[in-house]
Amino acid sequence: MKKIVVVGSINMDVVIRVPHIPTIGETVLAKGQQLYGGGKGANQAIAASRLGGNVYMIGRLGDDAYGKKLYNELVNNNVKVKAVEYDTNFPTGTAYICVSDKGDNTIVVNQGANGRLDIEQIKRYECILQDADYCILQMEIPISTIEYVIDFCKKKNIKVILNPAPAHLLSDETLEGIYMILPNETELAILCNNSGTIEDMAKSLHKKGIENVIVTLGGNGSMLVNEKTTKHFPAMSFPVVDTTAAGDAFVGAVTVGLSEGMDLEKAIEFATCAAGITVSREGAQASLPDRKMVDSYFSMR
Ligand code: RIB
Repeated sequence: MKKIVVVGSINMDVVIRVPHIPTIGETVLAKGQQLYGGGKGANQAIAASRLGGNVYMIGRLGDDAYGKKLYNELVNNNVKVKAVEYDTNFPTGTAYICVSDKGDNTIVVNQGANGRLDIEQIKRYECILQDADYCILQMEIPISTIEYVIDFCKKKNIKVILNPAPAHLLSDETLEGIYMILPNETELAILCNNSGTIEDMAKSLHKKGIENVIVTLGGNGSMLVNEKTTKHFPAMSFPVVDTTAAGDAFVGAVTVGLSEGMDLEKAIEFATCAAGITVSREGAQASLPDRKMVDSYFSMR
């Protein structure tokens, strides 16, 4: 079974339901507040594990009640947690998420212990990373750590799957040789300085030496650009309740599909299905589907 290592953030999500996302200077009344397990790293690890992936996580929590709860969530979802450490000086990361009646969201992350997932911690767990087949990364941990992990993976021929969220510019040298990048439209525009159409920008990332560029387009599906093709994949139709973690479901699912030997286009369709189910349910980790559910919708498409 192929090995997937996720290096990334673990957050407690404080979710506030609002009638609409407030604009600058506007006050709105919330309909309520809930706590959910989240963090793009942990979400992607759990997404992949629920779909049958062999998943290891390298992450950092605060030594507090949120930290213990989130650690247990990973364990309960069969994610291997030997490389998840507790930081005694920084609290567990938190994300403050507004979800509107339309299911759209805004997210503000207080990094906490995620900001202390440093190169030294990666070095302590190189034995876990070195024989990975896929390494999934996002950008809620220090950039220096991300660059170190990418460099390490390239040397070991590990396929890097980078979800550049929140978007941060990386050098051309770092991007060259990455197996897959999955920005959403906003992240793509930031990475490419808003320099053309979605297709133009995706092609410009591919030209930098990234083998596969997949732009996730929310309700409009996704677009793949690689050496062989430029192809649009429509979204599957699900009622939109909460779009939080849809991108994470997509990243986890596409990696599991590939790790099982699906060709890339089939893996994208599989991931589209997982993301669709996720938007139809509330919360981040709470909304991620298991394999049985994805397979049942996937076979009906
Ligand atoms: O992608 C959704 C996630 O982004 C949330 O769970 C939140 O924690 C932030 O990391």
